Amino acid sequence: MQIDILTLFPQMFESPFSTGILKRAIDHKLVRINICDIRDCTHDKHHTVDDYAYGGGAGMVLKPEPIFEAVESIKPDIEEGVNMLPIILLTPQGRPFSQEIAYELSRYMHMILICGRYEGVDERVRGHLVTDEVSIGDYVLSGGELAAMVVVDAVVRLLPGVLGSEASLLDDSYATGLLEYPQYTRPDEYKGWSVPQVLLSGNHAQIANWRREQAILRTLERRPDLLDKANLSLEERRLVDRLKQS
Ligand code: ADE
Repeated sequence: MQIDILTLFPQMFESPFSTGILKRAIDHKLVRINICDIRDCTHDKHHTVDDYAYGGGAGMVLKPEPIFEAVESIKPDIEEGVNMLPIILLTPQGRPFSQEIAYELSRYMHMILICGRYEGVDERVRGHLVTDEVSIGDYVLSGGELAAMVVVDAVVRLLPGVLGSEASLLDDSYATGLLEYPQYTRPDEYKGWSVPQVLLSGNHAQIANWRREQAILRTLERRPDLLDKANLSLEERRLVDRLKQS
C-alpha cells in the first residue's frame, strides 16, 4: 500500500513512523509512506498557504491551490485507477473513524490523507477534490496530523504480513464487535492477586468460553452500545439479558 500525507508540518511524522510496527512495515516494504509538504506547492515569495476568510471572521483558511496541486502531483502515476484512490480530509466534521473504516481503507492499494489546519480548508477542496472526510473523535485538535497518524496506524496493522500473528487481529477489541477479554501473564500470583484458575487449566474449550463471556461482560459494562451490533449467538443474547437484569 502507498499512503501520501499532505501536511504543513512534515516534522510531526518523523517519530511515529520510525518506531515499532509502523517502522517494521515500512522496512519490509509492506507500506510506503510519503510525506508531502503543502508549502512546497506554493509559488509566491512567502510560500503562502492560507488567507483571510471571505465574509470576515477570525482565523485563516487554507487556500485551495497548493492542496489541489499537491494531490495532482501524486495522481498522474495512478490516473487509470483514480476512482480507486480515496482522498481523505482529516477534520472534526468528518464521519467518525472506526475499525470498520480501517478495514475498508486497508483494502486499497493507495490513499491520500490531507491534514487540515488553522480555522479550516477552502470549501472547494471539500467539494471537488476529496472523496471522504474522517474525524477521529468529537474533540478539536490543532490540525489533522495526529488524526492522520491514528488512521495510518489502524490501517497499516491490518495489512497482510504486518503483525506477527494474524490470529491476534481476530481477537482485537472491535474486530469481534466486542471489547477484548482480560489478559494475564506470569507470575500467576502477584501481590496476592491471582490469575483466574481457568486460564491455568490447559482446557482450551473452557478458556475460549471464559474469554468469550468476559468479552461480553466487559462490553456490557463499558460499551453497551456495541452489543446491539455484535455477532452473538442466541445463547449469548440470553446471557446478556440475564446480566442486564442482575
Ligand atoms: N482535525 C482537528 N480535529 C480533528 C479530529 N477530531 N479528527 C480529525 N481531524 C481533526
